[in-house]
Amino acid sequence: MKILVTGGLGYIGSHTVAELYRHGHQAVIIDDLSNSSRQVLPALENLVGTNIPFYQLDILNQDGLARVFEQEFPVDGIIHFAAKKAVNESLQKPLIYFENNITGLLNIVRCVEDFNVNNLVFSSSCTVYGQPERVPVTESTPTTRSVTPYGNSKLIAEMILEEYTRLHKGLGTVMLRYFNPVGAHESATIGELPIGVPANLMPFITQTAAGVRERLKVFGSDYNTRDGTAIRDYIHVVDLADAHVKAIEWLQEHPDEVEFFNVGTGTGQTVLEVIESFERSTGQKLNYEIVGRREGDIEQIWADTTKVEQVLGWKATRTLDEMTSSAWKWECALRAQKS
Ligand code: UD1
Repeated sequence: MKILVTGGLGYIGSHTVAELYRHGHQAVIIDDLSNSSRQVLPALENLVGTNIPFYQLDILNQDGLARVFEQEFPVDGIIHFAAKKAVNESLQKPLIYFENNITGLLNIVRCVEDFNVNNLVFSSSCTVYGQPERVPVTESTPTTRSVTPYGNSKLIAEMILEEYTRLHKGLGTVMLRYFNPVGAHESATIGELPIGVPANLMPFITQTAAGVRERLKVFGSDYNTRDGTAIRDYIHVVDLADAHVKAIEWLQEHPDEVEFFNVGTGTGQTVLEVIESFERSTGQKLNYEIVGRREGDIEQIWADTTKVEQVLGWKATRTLDEMTSSAWKWECALRAQKS
């Protein structure tokens, strides 16, 4: 299949492109490089052993998008990653989040309609569940309004896509609700490239171990969890990438369907357990201190993965130690490139 991947040079996008080729598919990448680097393209091409068509384009540019679809017609499916994702920034610049994540999505859907695309996989987030009353969460756990424009943009996007798919004959859509993607490709040639001070846990850990940050702050030790720190379902980014391939292949066999899947491991880990795993798997000692809770953080969430296992036949296979060690290997490779 020829799959158009928006945001294909980003963290999850680039790993998904690599997995698409590994499974015998081809990708066409659209990325505006706003939160990614052009250098990812040659690294990816090297990894997959062929040239990959690439268009530097903002998805808000509807005419530009139409030109790409015209040029690449016919496209067998779209995996739509391109979106803004910094939770705190969304509180400062809500309009940018609604423009990118909603108007951008509508522009993609317009191309689905104009160019008869049959399959769409959308990047959603477990943020749509908020702090659930019960864990683990299944896909029928009620979704809830978020306290941030980022979270609400994912919820609104899901609603738009669900309704559109039901009304528009010929399109099938899968929404993947990601838990916490971490780690990097085993080759250490692609990985996460945070701009500025990382807001997420894993890049902050690796940058601290590399000496770029002085100390990791562990946000909160008074949660009602086994060691008092918050629990998340960390998933290896290559496992997550593989779920996209399974989703787009499944859609080929199931036209016109609309489905939601949790994509996690099914196990929750505390912040301290992630730190222990990092120290164990890399032999690095991490400098950290426990501070107060971060505003807006939830206490605990992890996925019930029964549905994705049964329907897509997908299951995460990589361990937490593989996540932390691959993230470190990538950080070291990045540092080596820079020096
Ligand atoms: C965050 C977003 C989520 C979004 C995801 C995108 C919030 C509340 N949630 O998820 O909506 O989909 O990013 O990547 O912002 N932690 C520390 N110290 C740090 C950084 C994090 O202790 O320096 C802790 C956090 O308190 C949390 C865990 O590590 O318990 C994971 O944090 P993070 O990686 O930021 O992900 P989420 O908050 O789960």
